[in-house]
Amino acid sequence: MSAIPKFSHVVFQTPQGEAMRNWYSTVLDGRVVFSDDVLSFVTYDEEHHRIALIHPPVAMDRKTETTAAAHHTAFTFANIDELIERYELLRDKDILPAVCICHGITTSMYYKDPDGNFVEMQIDTFENPDDATAYMQGPYYEEDSVGPAFDPEELVKRRREGASEKELGDRETWRHSGLGNPLEILMGPR
Ligand SMILES: [Fe+2]
Repeated sequence: MSAIPKFSHVVFQTPQGEAMRNWYSTVLDGRVVFSDDVLSFVTYDEEHHRIALIHPPVAMDRKTETTAAAHHTAFTFANIDELIERYELLRDKDILPAVCICHGITTSMYYKDPDGNFVEMQIDTFENPDDATAYMQGPYYEEDSVGPAFDPEELVKRRREGASEKELGDRETWRHSGLGNPLEILMGPR
């Protein structure tokens, strides 16, 4: 078996370095390690940088809903209360998810950065990755590979009322949320 490298960082080329630097520092509750006229490095954990930004002072084309490009980065919290804590911290700074989805394997909140890249804040539903794989290969994903949208305030309310992480991570809990097709936000209208 070959060596397994650790994922280290993601880099965005952006026409708005300052806005992106501030946004990622806030959303990841991180810090700027270095910044000059063309580069910025942000981290939030032991790694020296997790998000880097290339922002040379040149004109750039903006990403649109149909640009072929990376779609989102994802960050996993240990449990639903940590996810809720981050949601509330950002909500109180007027940073709200564009859409929240109960995928079944994860409970996910998708934010949009200033350039239109999504950032997924999530928790895993299953402790064992093999169980998540089995879920993806089972009937739920065959019927619908995305899952229903949910209202994050409703998630917070139900958690405060005593709902378990398992119940809140169950697609059935949100099946009748009536929030429409979350793919229209994630991918744009088709
Ligand atoms: Fe994802």
